[in-house]
Amino acid sequence: MSEQVQQTAETGQKKKRILSGIQPTGTFTLGNYIGAVRNWGPLQDEYECFYFIADLHAITVAIEPAELRRKSLEAYAQLLACGIDLEKSLVFIQSQIPTHAQLSWVLNCSTQFGELSRMTQFKDKSAKHPDNINAGLFDYPVLMAADILIYNADLVPVGADQTQHLEIARTIARRFNQRYGETFKIPEGYIPPLGAKIMSLQEPTKKMSKSDTNPNAVILILDDKDTIIRKCKRAVTDSGSEVVYAEGKDGINNLLTIYSTVTGRTIEESVKEFEGQGYGTFKVAVGEAIADHLRPVREEYARLIADKAYLKECYTRCGTEALRQSSRLLSKVYRKVGFVQSEIR
Ligand code: TRP
Repeated sequence: MSEQVQQTAETGQKKKRILSGIQPTGTFTLGNYIGAVRNWGPLQDEYECFYFIADLHAITVAIEPAELRRKSLEAYAQLLACGIDLEKSLVFIQSQIPTHAQLSWVLNCSTQFGELSRMTQFKDKSAKHPDNINAGLFDYPVLMAADILIYNADLVPVGADQTQHLEIARTIARRFNQRYGETFKIPEGYIPPLGAKIMSLQEPTKKMSKSDTNPNAVILILDDKDTIIRKCKRAVTDSGSEVVYAEGKDGINNLLTIYSTVTGRTIEESVKEFEGQGYGTFKVAVGEAIADHLRPVREEYARLIADKAYLKECYTRCGTEALRQSSRLLSKVYRKVGFVQSEIR
C-alpha cells in the first residue's frame, strides 16, 4: 500500500480507516463468510482497511505453540483468499508489531481493575477455564484497545460479543485524552451492510458457529464439494415436503437463505425454482451451489498456503508499514506521559 494517505476515487476525501483483529481459531464458516468476510473485498475501495491476526490475544487461552503458528498462517492465507488485496489494505501479524504491547502497558495504567472485572467475556472465559484465569485474559480488553487506538482507527467492525470491548476502548481513549491532552481518535463501531444470518445445519434455530462440536452443523469455507453436499444432505429439516419459506420451517428457510445468497437470487426466485421438487433434490442443489461459490476461495487458499515464502513476504511488507505508522503515535504517547526521550535505535 502506498505511503500517502489513501483517498476515495469519487470524492477525493481522506478515506476512513477500518481496523479489525481476527483470532487464529480455525477456518471461517459459511456463516462467517456470508455474514461478514465476503464484504471485506468491496469494503477496500471505500475504506482504508487494516486487518491483523490477533495471536497475542490467542495465547490468553491454552494453545499448543505449533498449532498457534500453523493456525496463524492459515488465517493469514484465508484473509487473502477471501479477497483482501494487499495493494489496498494491510494484513499483518499482531505479535510482529511490538507497539501494540508497548501501548497496552501504558493504557493499563489508565484502566481500572473494576472495569475489567465487569467484562462479560472475562467472566464467561473464567467460568469456562477455571484452571487458567491468567492475567492476560483479564487484560485482554486493554490490549484490544491498544490495537485499535495505535492506528487511529475510525471504525471497528465488531460482532455483538465484542461491543463491550469497543466501548471500553473508547472509555480508555477519552480518559487518556482528558488527562494528557488530545492523543487518540475515539473509534466508532462499524455495522456492516447486513449479510444474512446463517444458522446451524443441525439446529437451525442456533447460529452456525465455528465452535460447534457437531461437524455436520457447520460448513467451512475450505470444505471440498463432496463434504459440502454430504453436510447439506444431512441438514435437519421439517417433516413436510414443500420447499417454501415459512414459519416453523427453520431448516428449509436456512437452506433457502444460503441458496439465494450464493446464487444471487431472491428467496422468491429460489422457491419458484424448486416448486414441485422434494427436499432431497433441493439439498443437493444447495450443496452444489455453495461448493461452486466457494471454489475460487478454496483454490486460491490452496495456492497461498503452499507458498510460505510469498506469505512471509506479504506479512513482512505489511508489518513494516504497520510498525512505521504505529511507532509515530507510540512516540507521542511516550512523550505525553513523561518518559525521557530515547535515543536508542
Ligand atoms: N477480540 C476480537 C475477537 O475475538 C479480536 C480482536 C483483537 C480485535 N484485537 C482487535 C477486533 C481489535 C477488533 C479490533 O473477535
